[in-house]
Amino acid sequence: MEVGKRDGFGSKLGAIMATAGSAVGLGNIFRFPCMAGENGGGAFLMVYLLILLLIGVPMMLTEMIIGRRTGKSVVGALRELSPKKSKWAWCGYVSVMGAVLLLTFYTTISGWTLEYIYKSIANEFANKDVGQIENMFINFHNSKFAPFFWQIVVVLITAVVLSKGIKDGIEKFSMLFMPIMFVVIIVLCVRSLLMPNSIEGVKFFLLPDFSKITEGVILNALGQVFFSLSIGMGCLVTYGSYINKKDNLSKSATYVCIIDTVVALFIGVTIFSAAFSVGINPEMGFGLAFNTLPVIFNQMIGGYFFCILFFISLAIAAITSIISMFEVVVEFFLEEINFSRNKSILITSLLVLFIGFFVTCSLRADSVFIIGGRTLFDLLDAFTSNVLMPVGGLLLAVFVGWSMKKEYFYDELTCGNTIKIGVKEFLYYVIKFVIPIVIIVIFINQWI
Ligand code: PHE
Repeated sequence: MEVGKRDGFGSKLGAIMATAGSAVGLGNIFRFPCMAGENGGGAFLMVYLLILLLIGVPMMLTEMIIGRRTGKSVVGALRELSPKKSKWAWCGYVSVMGAVLLLTFYTTISGWTLEYIYKSIANEFANKDVGQIENMFINFHNSKFAPFFWQIVVVLITAVVLSKGIKDGIEKFSMLFMPIMFVVIIVLCVRSLLMPNSIEGVKFFLLPDFSKITEGVILNALGQVFFSLSIGMGCLVTYGSYINKKDNLSKSATYVCIIDTVVALFIGVTIFSAAFSVGINPEMGFGLAFNTLPVIFNQMIGGYFFCILFFISLAIAAITSIISMFEVVVEFFLEEINFSRNKSILITSLLVLFIGFFVTCSLRADSVFIIGGRTLFDLLDAFTSNVLMPVGGLLLAVFVGWSMKKEYFYDELTCGNTIKIGVKEFLYYVIKFVIPIVIIVIFINQWI
């Protein structure tokens, strides 16, 4: 890199892979199948796809535009683009805070995936039933060091990747591991579909039951779109700031949304076909991956290898998402407080591990970090996904629609009028009116 020149993604594909790395995460593997299963299967999928098209893609584009226009991360970008400078910068602080909080529990779960790669390689699940495997999960949480140890390992991996910079760190890591993850997911999906009676699982997952579409389903679909696409945390603003000025942002955003959705669908098909095939009612939530799936793999020919592959893909998905959240905070320290890159990474790591320690401990049976009957872990999860992310998204949409100059939006979208985007006005009005109204209506409904 030339001295004084800002680091950035080296290629269009690299930018897409890194952004897809942020988007594809635990949200696709845990959250999506659960949401779909609980909210009417194929009916949920249809609502999800509609919201993805109408709100998800424009929101992703909005964040990327803010980032690329300024070449800055979220706080600096908002300050630069708001007419009276600094007025909007405080919204960036909401994003940075959200990213720190999200990291504190996301690193906990990612740590579990590493423990489970180890457990599957050591063949610890062999010949065990659901009850025994469930006990393993509980014992793991209650052990003194293991959960925090793996959380530290996750943070260390992230810190090493980030210390290498954007092109040589984030981009290279994503270009290497994302394709591996795609291959693993396809292999797992095919393996599941080859199991007897797998079609019942596919039907459960994909056949629409329209009677189940309620306000709650729509709300859940919106929350899932935000979570899954990494919207509202400044990650896409930050990654957008590394994208080459000549790249067509609307294409990149569309590709990332397609990759994210296809991965979620493949994982859903994998899990439900396998579960139905062995006659296990797919338990939802974390229990699904950490308790039920090992049992299913036990009953599958070649299950030992497929189990290892599954946890590896889970770890890759989680770590590439963590990298993007970290980068938001690192860039904040770098640009706003003028720390060096390595110092910013160190401070972010310590901050995340400090709060993360209490979050991880809150899951122990003897935990004292329980508020109103809910663990710190649960509370942070709900607060970031249901409050900070939609509010962050709302603020950014309002900013672009009502405060930032319209020309900036069109200029970035069309790469300085060099490409034609037929729907640019439509997109602008969706961001200005539709997105804020939809988010506010959903919020009011939720609180009432
Ligand atoms: N999109 C990630 C997932 O699906 C989560 C995430 C949210 C990542 C916000 C970055 C920022 O798991």
